[in-house]
Amino acid sequence: MIKTMALFAISLFMLVACGEAGDAQLEENASQETEAVESSSTELAGNDGIGVGPIKSVTLGDLDKAMAAEGETIFNTNCAACHKMDKRFVGPALAGVTERRKPEWIMNMIMNPEQMVKEDPIAKELLAEYLAPMANQSITEDQARKIVEYFRQVDSK
Ligand code: HEC
Repeated sequence: MIKTMALFAISLFMLVACGEAGDAQLEENASQETEAVESSSTELAGNDGIGVGPIKSVTLGDLDKAMAAEGETIFNTNCAACHKMDKRFVGPALAGVTERRKPEWIMNMIMNPEQMVKEDPIAKELLAEYLAPMANQSITEDQARKIVEYFRQVDSK
């Protein structure tokens, strides 16, 4: 019932947003809200490769070296026990990860691994291959974004 009402409210919002202003920004907001509703559903037909979790959209700019350096420190503290860059360990080698996954997917995997391995088709396959589940390290969005920057730096070399 609440969900139906939420959907109704969103439809109304989209109608108003598209009809009244025809403004691109408004339309974008509306479609992002729809996405949020869809992602919270358990029946995920496909998530466009962004994964399942709190991160719906990430904008990448030029490589930020300061952020990457912080990301490396966070990685060494929280991830290196299971991941190496250049070879398989408890988890997959992470070199090239920014080429095979979207930044949203990587951040959702870091912040929401339990749900990812249950609902995201790629993460499910990884779990089937690596057998050990990836641990949730209680990483914040800001920290996860810095880790992505570190991965981008590694992949840019
Ligand atoms: C307890 C071990 C463990 C820890 C700690 C861990 N991971 Fe993982 N990670 C895994 C495993 C195992 C997988 C493969 C999926 C699965 O089995 O759940 C994985 C998958 C991944 C993937 C997907 C790789 C690909 O090829 O798509 C990324 C990205 C990742 N981890 C990043 C991280 C980051 C960043 C951290 C630190 C915040 C971290 N992991 C901490 C074990 C771990």
